[in-house]
Amino acid sequence: MKIGILGTGGMAAALGGAWVAAGHSVMIGGRRPQRAQRIAELVAGAGTGSLADAARHGDAVLLAVPAAAAPQLAAELAGDLAGRTVVDCTNPLVPTDDGLMLDVGETGSIARRLAAAAPEAYVVKAFNLCHVSIWTLRPPTFENVPLAVPFCADHPTAIAATQTLIGSIGCTPAPCGGLARAAYLEATAALAIGMWWAGTQPRAAFPSPAEAPLP
Ligand SMILES: NC(=O)c1ccc[n+]([C@@H]2O[C@H](COP(=O)([O-])OP(=O)(O)OC[C@H]3O[C@@H](n4cnc5c(N)ncnc54)[C@H](OP(=O)(O)O)[C@@H]3O)[C@@H](O)[C@H]2O)c1
Repeated sequence: MKIGILGTGGMAAALGGAWVAAGHSVMIGGRRPQRAQRIAELVAGAGTGSLADAARHGDAVLLAVPAAAAPQLAAELAGDLAGRTVVDCTNPLVPTDDGLMLDVGETGSIARRLAAAAPEAYVVKAFNLCHVSIWTLRPPTFENVPLAVPFCADHPTAIAATQTLIGSIGCTPAPCGGLARAAYLEATAALAIGMWWAGTQPRAAFPSPAEAPLP
């Protein structure tokens, strides 16, 4: 698959590297050419260019910039993103005295704001729950179980593309409904990251009912 990545930071490097290793054609785009060049050295095999170059390259385009910048960027690139799957991994989190809070405005999720900003793109929420380090594992497997990657999407093209993005790096796609439910993935990130910061393990809080069957 042809994948564009908007952003030249940690998530771009980690997921870009995973997708190159999986055999995809990856182009990483940044607003500063020297950063794009540096990431090309980190992610051998990826091409680099401008943000618009990366948007136009991808059948799927990962938006890997801060949530606060993402809607404006999606609006600026709306024409280039039309007809493409746009994967939103952003977490619109704001630290407060009461812990991490979501800053999503009236649409209820940053993913819905992106869909409004680029109305002809097929927006997906995915890859927002794990720390960047997890995406550098080849493959991300824990206790012999491949990592499940929840995603929310509406369009069949976006669903198929996301399943390929997830499955090709050795993870299990976990469809979680349409984009209206992206708010839950964003809230889950706020909760999980808050638990990690507090020194507790979110993983330990979600055993399956199958592990304690009722008599
Ligand atoms: N880090 C994690 O563990 C993690 C996990 C899950 C999801 N996420 C989400 O993934 C996204 C990227 O995170 P990251 O850790 O990769 O961040 P990062 O390392 O700080 O990189 C952010 C990238 O966004 C670019 N950028 C910032 N403002 C921009 C703008 N207005 N227009 C264009 N590009 C802009 C930066 O460019 P410059 O270098 O030019 O400033 C940089 O390339 C965030 O939304 C974050 O919430 C992160």
